[in-house]
Amino acid sequence: MEVLSSLSSFINLHQSEARPIVLVTSGGTSVPLEKNMVRSLENFSTGSRGSCSAEHFLAKGYAVVFLYRPGSLLPFLRMISSEYGGLGEITPRLASTLAASFGEEAGGSFDLPSFVDPVKEFERANNKTMFLLDYKSVTQYLELFEEICKLLDACGRQAMVYAASAVSDFYIPEEKMAQHKIQSGEAGNGVNEDGCLNLKLYPVPKKLGSIGEWCSKAFVVSFKLETDTNILQRKSLRAIDKYKVNAVVGNILSTRKKTCMLYTGEDRDGLTLKTSGGKILEEEIIAVLVDMHFQHISEGGGAEVFR
Ligand code: PMT
Repeated sequence: MEVLSSLSSFINLHQSEARPIVLVTSGGTSVPLEKNMVRSLENFSTGSRGSCSAEHFLAKGYAVVFLYRPGSLLPFLRMISSEYGGLGEITPRLASTLAASFGEEAGGSFDLPSFVDPVKEFERANNKTMFLLDYKSVTQYLELFEEICKLLDACGRQAMVYAASAVSDFYIPEEKMAQHKIQSGEAGNGVNEDGCLNLKLYPVPKKLGSIGEWCSKAFVVSFKLETDTNILQRKSLRAIDKYKVNAVVGNILSTRKKTCMLYTGEDRDGLTLKTSGGKILEEEIIAVLVDMHFQHISEGGGAEVFR
């Protein structure tokens, strides 16, 4: 895949400059019900967590590989997507057009629209310290996730995996999927005689446990989203015990923008992180994780990293 060869050059460049590098996954996966897809099951995620986090990793001197779902929020451009709803989805191509229209050549001689700065910030990072890749279906996500992790192996302990995407736990494997649009009112493809559709969804292979094989020295952070506070700690610790991730960010759907818990093997009670003093939550999360990552790097006696 061409994009992976460009990504490999991006990773090698930053690795040679001793820059820490993070894979940020963002947005929710889609599970198609048909090969010629008309319907799908979606996992909830606006991409706010991933895109805000990417900005703060960049601010800390990291190179960022951003694996996102098209239509979900992008770093910097997230600030204008909602404000300028009329623009629709702000794609990297649209961002370039906006930057060209309102950027350097305007020379500040007229009132620049308020959305120019985020666009400039995006342009400044894109393809230099930030590399974008997109996925739609859960299958595409899992394939890209694996390939990127394998490329990150070259960075040893300098790499971090920050898996904020909401990945479906259930899907329909390709060989079990209907070819064409599932018809209502006609028995077949799961539609039975009384007109009800019975879907059989299969478990998606969990990939967290394999990260250790793909990039064995990377610092791995996974996420846990729950709606029931009573099970958040247990489910978060499970990822540490079962998949050996270094840290888990646990959050509750309704409060996810204001507070979250950070669990590690050493701190099983968890550290409460909250928005404070005008800082968004991601700034708090990334500050703590970067310290933990630098500790992880120094424990390996690794090369000095740029900070
Ligand atoms: O985007 P926002 O609107 O800001 O919302 C952010 C968020 C709530 C989506 C985010 O903070 C979050 O919690 N993301 C993880 C959601 C979740 O619980 O996903 P999960 O239970 O499907 O997966 C748990 C972890 O395993 C995740 O790190 C996921 O990336 C990973 N996973 C899941 C399934 C799978 N097959 N392989 C995986 O690696």
